[in-house]
Amino acid sequence: MYTSMRFNMENTKKISLYINALILIYGSYSVASLEDKELKLITIATDVTDGLRRYLRSTNKYGLDVEVFGMGQDWRGGDVANHAGGGHKVNILKKELEKYKAHDDLILMFTDSYDVVLTAGKKEILGKFKKLNARVVFSAEGFCWPDPSLATSYPMVKENEKRYLNSGGYIGYAKDLYEIITLRDIKDTDDDQLYFTNIFLDNTLRKKWNMKLDVKSDLFQNLNGALDDVTIKFKSDHSFAYNVKTGTTPIVVHGNGPIKPQFNRIANYLVDGWTSQSGCLSCKEETISIKDLKDEEFPTVLLSLFFEQPTPFAEEFLERIAELKYPKSRMDLFIHNNVEFHNKDVANFLEKYNDLYRSTTVLMPSDGIHEPAARNWAIEVCKQKNDQYLFSVDVYAQITDPDTLIDLIEQNRTVLAPILTRPYKLWSNFWGAVDRNGWYVRSEDYIDIVEKRKIGLWNVPYITGSYLIHGSLMKDLRDIFVAEGKEADMAFCGGLRQRGIFMYATNRKIHGHLVEYDDMETSHLHNDLYQIIQNPYDWEQKYIHENYSKSLEVEGINQLVQPCPDVFWFPIVSNRFADDLVAEMEHANQWSGGKNEDPRLATGYENVPTVDTHMNQIGLEKQWLHFLKVYVSPLQEKAFAGYHSDPPRAIMNFVVRYRPDEQDRLRPHHDSSTFTINIALNTPKVDFEGGGCRFIRYNCSVTATRKGWMLMHPGRLTHYHEGLVVTKGTRYIMISFVDP
Ligand SMILES: *[C@@H]1O[C@H](CO)[C@@H](O)[C@H](O)[C@H]1NC(C)=O
Ligand SMILES: *[C@@H]1O[C@H](CO)[C@@H](O)[C@H](O)[C@H]1NC(C)=O
Ligand SMILES: *[C@@H]1O[C@H](CO)[C@@H](O)[C@H](O)[C@H]1NC(C)=O
Repeated sequence: MYTSMRFNMENTKKISLYINALILIYGSYSVASLEDKELKLITIATDVTDGLRRYLRSTNKYGLDVEVFGMGQDWRGGDVANHAGGGHKVNILKKELEKYKAHDDLILMFTDSYDVVLTAGKKEILGKFKKLNARVVFSAEGFCWPDPSLATSYPMVKENEKRYLNSGGYIGYAKDLYEIITLRDIKDTDDDQLYFTNIFLDNTLRKKWNMKLDVKSDLFQNLNGALDDVTIKFKSDHSFAYNVKTGTTPIVVHGNGPIKPQFNRIANYLVDGWTSQSGCLSCKEETISIKDLKDEEFPTVLLSLFFEQPTPFAEEFLERIAELKYPKSRMDLFIHNNVEFHNKDVANFLEKYNDLYRSTTVLMPSDGIHEPAARNWAIEVCKQKNDQYLFSVDVYAQITDPDTLIDLIEQNRTVLAPILTRPYKLWSNFWGAVDRNGWYVRSEDYIDIVEKRKIGLWNVPYITGSYLIHGSLMKDLRDIFVAEGKEADMAFCGGLRQRGIFMYATNRKIHGHLVEYDDMETSHLHNDLYQIIQNPYDWEQKYIHENYSKSLEVEGINQLVQPCPDVFWFPIVSNRFADDLVAEMEHANQWSGGKNEDPRLATGYENVPTVDTHMNQIGLEKQWLHFLKVYVSPLQEKAFAGYHSDPPRAIMNFVVRYRPDEQDRLRPHHDSSTFTINIALNTPKVDFEGGGCRFIRYNCSVTATRKGWMLMHPGRLTHYHEGLVVTKGTRYIMISFVDP
């Protein structure tokens, strides 16, 4: 069973002091003999990959002595994650280990490195090796591979133990290991696991070197086929793997076979990368600082923006890009616009900012470049400009924190995405797990990360929307966005996984959010106006008055603004809303004639007609009713407490246009409503002269109307009212008769 001492450095020190004391007292060296031997880790890596860096981070952390063989050689052992092979490893070791063949006091531990981390130091490793009471121990797994017919030749094991040899990890006396490795010839493309298996299954040889398998995973945990056997545990600032089947705490954790994404996820926590007590410890490691550099010293960045489908709030997206805190003189700009719909947004942006960037490459719809080709193009541009980073952002990724680019660079990872989510939804720009075909699978920590219950830096199998790529990778990424039968993002992430390049995603800060773009309406003048249901967060930011919620915080109605008896006045929509709505109405140009005959109404007759356009004439009715429910009802509950209307109903929702040469006033009348709202869409004395609303019973007028503010009053009986004469200009108001 697990004991806390084994993983606590302090305790370990105390124990060894205690043991040393015992040795002094009894003069016996047998207790400590094996622990006193030298331990050297050996591994083979032909390239410096993210996986190797992760392995070395773990060995450094626990002060282990490591020798890496094979660096810079061409790998000739094949794709060992999926196929037999790996003989090249044995041949490298034959040569390299010769120097250790006579070292009696040296224990060697071989492990793979790209998919391995260690979670404890020398004392713990030798302690466990000693307990296994062998001269050579191989790691074990549940699959008999690559020759399943050998399965029955293996010694029996107990329930929950693993029966078959895995050559990704073994430990033993240098002399014995050298003899085993040099016993027979092996071709580079032969299978190294089969080589060791054949030796192990030979009874004579097994006895000769006292070889055993680590069937309980005391020391080595192979995860392929055993993911359910293992959980991550935390003990104060330490994280470690715990095998729930055998009750062991294995030290060498190996993501062997085709489970790299799952292993990467587990390894996020191991080596104290993230612990429940201290959160993300790895976040603080290997970072750099650029904040204090002079402008001209900032690393160069290719900023690449992609417009691949009509997307709401593109204007805000581009403004936020322009507001990134980063010297534009250190950025090359690359834009791929694949949709006519965004031509104007892109043109406006370029007009304002083009000259500030180092250089600009713009591909417009007329260039006919498809998405994957355009994304590959950006990589080529980054290479050609020698930029130190590529920062890629899609139009649906709203980067709201201007520090984002600096933060990502300072985190100093090869590929790094800011985690962005759709507000109020469990939708984000990363996946915690993928299946064998690269499709989405929900990882067990996905929701905790999306909802920020776990904060940190996560090695994940899929990112999209926005990410920073280190420039040194560009040479390996040619054409990475193109793969048979795959969308660009799937091809990219699949390609990175295949190359062993880690994708990190960070939720250490909220850098922005995602906009939903499916089924965006594009037929209007101001299409964002129509987004209140799909994109409530962005819609509110753009279109709701910044002081809207202040009215909801007041205690009694006396604190509300009341220009006339029972007429309440609230800030509700932004100037932008008023302008866009008026423009949309004028664009539609469907103003009624102001006659009593009105074919738009069920009765065909309007008693008190105005020159107006109904919301349903511009296709905004459904959205408007939503607006009444979400934004108007709460104010009504404040002003007229005790009246509940959910959802509020309204058939008459329209914008009225008053002007001297058309209709300039409205005679006294009641409204067919329980209550009426009247939103000023422009400003008296600026856009028009005169105008306003007079409540006759109270001889009270509201003439200094405020753009974006709403009057709310009862519709009948007490609030008989009239529209005052507009003498110059044009006055627009938005009216709804609620609950007729
Ligand atoms: C991290 O920083 C070091 C030191 O500046 C640098 O050599 C290395 O390339 C950086 N790595 C990444 C992935 O940015
Ligand atoms: C919101 O209220 C503050 C404080 O009263 C005021 O300064 C600001 O101008 C208001 N915003 C708008 C858009 O009217
Ligand atoms: C109505 O108010 C106006 C201006 O406040 C005032 O001049 C007028 O005499 C009032 N009319 C009545 C009938 O009280």
